[in-house]
Amino acid sequence: MTSSELAAVVDSSRPAPPSENRDPAASDGFDRWCRDALYSASVIEATAILDRYCDHQLQAVYRTLELGSLLREPSGAAEVAARLRLVDSAEITMHALLYRLARRTPFVEMVGQGLDARFVHRADPPDPGPELAALRERMAGLGSAYCVSLDFLDFGVEHFERSLRDDPDFMDRMLSGREGTFAELWHAATNLDPLQDLHGAMGAEAITRHGWGGVILELGGGTGNGIRHLLQRLGTEDALARVGHYVFTDISVRFLMKTRAEVKRSWPGVNCSWTFADLNQPLRGFRIPEHIDLVYAVNAAHVARDMPAFLRQCHEVLAPGGRVVFAERVRIDPYEMAPRELTLNLSVYHRGAALRSEARPMHCYLSPGGWSTLLREAGFEPELLPDLDGMAEHFPQQYAAVVVGHKPA
Ligand SMILES: C[S@@+](CC[C@H](N)C(=O)[O-])C[C@H]1O[C@@H](n2cnc3c(N)ncnc32)[C@H](O)[C@@H]1O
Repeated sequence: MTSSELAAVVDSSRPAPPSENRDPAASDGFDRWCRDALYSASVIEATAILDRYCDHQLQAVYRTLELGSLLREPSGAAEVAARLRLVDSAEITMHALLYRLARRTPFVEMVGQGLDARFVHRADPPDPGPELAALRERMAGLGSAYCVSLDFLDFGVEHFERSLRDDPDFMDRMLSGREGTFAELWHAATNLDPLQDLHGAMGAEAITRHGWGGVILELGGGTGNGIRHLLQRLGTEDALARVGHYVFTDISVRFLMKTRAEVKRSWPGVNCSWTFADLNQPLRGFRIPEHIDLVYAVNAAHVARDMPAFLRQCHEVLAPGGRVVFAERVRIDPYEMAPRELTLNLSVYHRGAALRSEARPMHCYLSPGGWSTLLREAGFEPELLPDLDGMAEHFPQQYAAVVVGHKPA
């Protein structure tokens, strides 16, 4: 099909009618696809390497900040942050770091539970250099793209004190495209790294298999992982016409412009609009259509500070029978930091994304149960894909889910 034929098809399409809630056959097919196609041996091994690399890099930070001498007596994360003269909310970073070390290494012990936990030094971690080099070599054996996840952690370690003490806005500038010098690294970290890229692949697969479409509002679309995967995947089914109108949004003008140029070049016939939208603000506004069938976000919904309010807002903007689809990283242990949070926790917007509650005890990423609770409270019927319990044996360190909230018709 030429691009002008495609344009004719797409322009004459009407928003697809919302499908029935829950489609067990499509969900089963999605589970099989995750197990047989997505979660390859390389992905599973790379996830394990990344986890260990993170633990060793945290030990490097522990040594540099001389946390051993600060933790002679049990101390809470806030005390540690204050003694290091770090910025407000850096205790969130320190809690995540110490909690992970306490859970996964013998060097720190945790006294108490959850956010009230205190930490005490147990032993000095050895120089992590040789382990880090060995892990990097194993990762490189899986393919150079996998090493991007390690580069991203190295970047965090390198800029740890700068971000938490001297230049608190630095990581926010980097993560929202305002720090041009590092834009390539961030683009690679959200697109080239296969462990991140799989979020967009999962969202696209879920939407395509379930036959969803119509007017799609993507939030936090950023460097384009979500739209790129979705249009590619729909294209393979000759189903691009299912996109009645795609409204791509982000808070970064740099990302919007770059992604727009790429999508216009690759899918000139798809009816797209491009606009600024802050998901922590009212969503109605310039270029946000009245009728929306699907609110889509890849690794971005967790940026919502007040998640219940954000979900209520999604419910309000969606047409009856519509849905939210969030391809998300989830915290299987509700308190454990994800490896890439070694870097993300240096950003104010990542740390600040949490009006905490029982359903969301940590900032940013939620647990699967937390998502279900909050979606239900906002009036959605929740569905998490794939079946995470069923997948646990195949991929014990799984960390991704497509979080769906169906609005009743
Ligand atoms: C982890 S990135 C994900 C980007 C993209 N969806 C992807 O997977 O490549 C998070 C995105 O959320 C955007 N963002 C941050 N705060 C936001 C906010 N308050 N409202 C909307 N988008 C936001 C950032 O600019 C960034 O593009």
